[in-house]
This record gives sequence, structure tokens and C-alpha cells, in this order.
Amino acid sequence: MGFPQHRPRRTRQSDAWRRLVRETRLTPEALVYPLFVVPGRAVRHAVESMPGIFQLSVDEAVKDAKAVAAAGVPAVLLFAAPAHKDGKATSATDPKGLAAQAIAAIKEACPDLILWADVCLCGATDHGHCGHVLAGGAIDNDSSIKTLAEVALNYARAGADAVAPSDMMDGRVAAIRARLDEAGLTSTPIVSYAAKFASSFYGPFREAAESAPAFGDRLSYQMDPANAREALREVLLDVEEGADLVMVKPAGPYLDVIRQVRDAVSVPVVAYQVSGEFSLIKAAAARGWIDERAAALETLTGIRRAGADLIISYFAPEVARWLRA
Ligand code: PBG
Repeated sequence: MGFPQHRPRRTRQSDAWRRLVRETRLTPEALVYPLFVVPGRAVRHAVESMPGIFQLSVDEAVKDAKAVAAAGVPAVLLFAAPAHKDGKATSATDPKGLAAQAIAAIKEACPDLILWADVCLCGATDHGHCGHVLAGGAIDNDSSIKTLAEVALNYARAGADAVAPSDMMDGRVAAIRARLDEAGLTSTPIVSYAAKFASSFYGPFREAAESAPAFGDRLSYQMDPANAREALREVLLDVEEGADLVMVKPAGPYLDVIRQVRDAVSVPVVAYQVSGEFSLIKAAAARGWIDERAAALETLTGIRRAGADLIISYFAPEVARWLRA
């Protein structure tokens, strides 16, 4: 039976009806906000390619963490861009390093705000790659995961509520889990960037995190954007290795991957609406070509509809305010 018995518009006739039959709900509880920390005091340096996003010294990051929590965003993801960079990522394993300081300060000021610490080598290495680089330029997977485990341990000891490895080395989740457990940190969850694609949409972030590779690219560790089956394999391996949450990144161009991952695993699925996805909307809105608020809400709703339980987004505090207004 079709028309005229069936009129799908009946339940779209008013805002009250549309709210009642809405299938996907975007709530502030589902959002995670990235924070970028740099050395110094009273530093609030605008990231040009990401309007409204700043590189913050620890004292300023504490202020923003408080504001984000007050807006109703339950969690932040912390990135550090330390001044000292070397071949060994010393700043990231240093208990007095920038990331460790920021973690401790934010947790002290906002004990109820969940803090995830991004674990990678790219922000602390002079070459800007996510793993150790061998003579000749190849990435040394197995020594990298040892260092990544030390970085994770450092951040967990500093008070991070979870560690989030974003390097895409093989075996890092198991290495991190073993190192944390050995040190007695059995309760620190691992949020794995499980299916992280080699994306052009990370461009603006590399300015914010000062993490662009000095040579070459990330194609030997991040995934080929064409591969969904391989993404599922990566996710299942990470779950097997002990990942407590898994992530798909970027989000918008990979909605099919989010859906397949959601259907395949029972752990929470996180999607990262990355810097380029944010900047595209900001840039078009600045020219009056798109309605920023409507576009941000639509993309985030789409990511939730695809199956993401949680979304990391640079829009998080604004969206939380819009949703509560
Ligand atoms: C680095 C890292 C990147 C992002 C998160 N962690 C960039 C990269 O891999 O080059 C991207 C985040 C964004 O674009 O918003 N390990």
C-alpha cells in the first residue's frame, strides 16, 4: 500500500512531532574537546587555520578546561607541543615535561573533567614522525612501541584518565597495556586511534600541534583512505590487544567505516571530526556561504547516526551551549 494511505509527512508537520520521532540525538555528553598546550605562561596564541582554536600555556589551558566543563562537555583530549624536540621524544617521557605538567594541572583544577592524553611521538620528535626513524628514513615499529608505552605510562602517572595512542604502529595497544599493568596502572583505559587514515584533513592540526613531518609522509603507518576492510582488521586487532574504546578518524569522509566498526565491536566507538573538517565549515561560514551552526550540528548528527557513541570535535563547547540554549 502506498499513497494516499501512507503520508510520511504526517510526523514531520511540526517541531513537536519532529522532536518526538527523532532517531538520533546529539547531546553534550557525547562530546570531547581537543586542547593544545605549549610552553610559557599567559600564552593564548591563535591557530590561524582554525578560527577560535588556540595554543595555550598550561595556566591558560586550565582556564579553558574549566570553561569547557562549565559548558557541559564531559571530556577533553590533550595535545602537547613541547619546545624541546629530539630523536627520542624525551619531552614526552619526561615526568616534568610539558604534557605531564598540563595533565596534572588540569586534573587538579577540574577533577571531574575526563582527560584523555594523546600518546604519540610526532609532537616531541625533531623529525615529526609518529615513530622512531631509522637511518634511511624507515620507521622502526618495534622500538617505537616501547617508547610509546613509556609515554603512556608517563601520562597515566601524571593523572590522565585515559591514554590515546594516535601513532598507528603495530602492537602499540598491547605494549601500552602491558607497561601500564606492570606499573600497577591497571585501571587506566586505552582509547585507541584504531582506524586512523592518512588524511589531507589533518593539515590545520599540524599547525596547532607543530607536528608536521620534516620529510616524507605518514603513508607507511596511517591507513589508505580507500580501505574499509583493513580498518575493521585494525579495530579488531586493537580490541584483542586490550583497547577499551576504539576510534575512527577522520569522521565525515568515513561514515561507512564508523557504521561497520559499530556493528562489529562491543566497546564504545569514538569518531574524530578532525581539524580540516572543522576549518572547512569555519571558512565557508566566514564567507557567508554556509550557516555555521546548522552545518556543525548536521555533520555531528550524521556522525552519531553512522554509529559513533562519542565525537571528538573542535565545535564541542559551542555545540554544548547551542544544545542547552
Ligand atoms: C598526530 C595526530 C594528528 C591528529 C591527531 N593526532 C595529525 C597527524 O597524524 O598528522 C589530527 C587531528 C586533527 O586534524 O584534528 N599523531
